[in-house]
Amino acid sequence: MRLRGLRPQGGRERLKRNRFTMPDSFVHRDNPMTPFQAVALEHASRLINHGPTVLVTSLDGERRNIMAAAWSMPVEFKPPRIAVVIDKNTFTRELVIASGVFGICIPGAGAIDVTYAVGSSSGRDTDKFAEFGITPVTGPVLGLPLIETNCAAWLECKLIREPHTEDAYDTCFGEVVSAAADSRVFNNGHWVFDASNESLHTLHHLGAGNFARASNVLRARPLP
Ligand SMILES: Cc1cc2nc3c(=O)[nH]c(=O)nc-3n(C[C@H](O)[C@H](O)[C@H](O)COP(=O)(O)O)c2cc1C
Repeated sequence: MRLRGLRPQGGRERLKRNRFTMPDSFVHRDNPMTPFQAVALEHASRLINHGPTVLVTSLDGERRNIMAAAWSMPVEFKPPRIAVVIDKNTFTRELVIASGVFGICIPGAGAIDVTYAVGSSSGRDTDKFAEFGITPVTGPVLGLPLIETNCAAWLECKLIREPHTEDAYDTCFGEVVSAAADSRVFNNGHWVFDASNESLHTLHHLGAGNFARASNVLRARPLP
């Protein structure tokens, strides 16, 4: 299986040297005009701080998969760490435990149907990427399948093994080793939701296939 991918500026040698370090910057091998830009790891928590529904991607050898997850959150700034609930009955959990890595993609409103579809069927007997027409790019550090089409951002994570929380609470922890976001909706370390980028506004699951879209940004002011 050959996936389209990102390559760091500086080429393969630099990628090898920095096996678990995100390159300072990188460009798409196939699409140098991509709007996706690297997000500094100290800002990675901001990508999921507001609780968007995410897509968890996984890869173990030739087996790859994708599922929806409404339950994820940052747990540490430095090193950047996150938690995500991945039910023990999912195929995703099997691949994540087997490989020790997982991807987090943040779908925009334009990916609502795909998000619900990959959260409503299992990849145990089918390749959901092929079934739902999802073309992934290759993560620059861990080689994970990541989604950019109709997505606002992605993160590559190394699983931090915590067998107790995995078994008792289905909660998996990960250290973020690379992150990127569509600069039309996340730049200078901040989300920018406005009328120009509505299809990239993040999704928030209300239940039963209903989602709210992050749109109305309000700024808190000091109390008088
Ligand atoms: C919007 C949405 C949010 C979901 N959130 C979670 C979640 O946080 N954790 C989880 O384990 N499953 C969640 N699910 C269910 C999984 O996505 C679902 O079980 C999926 O079919 C698992 O796929 P897999 O067996 O291919 O890994 C969610 C489903 C949807 C539609």
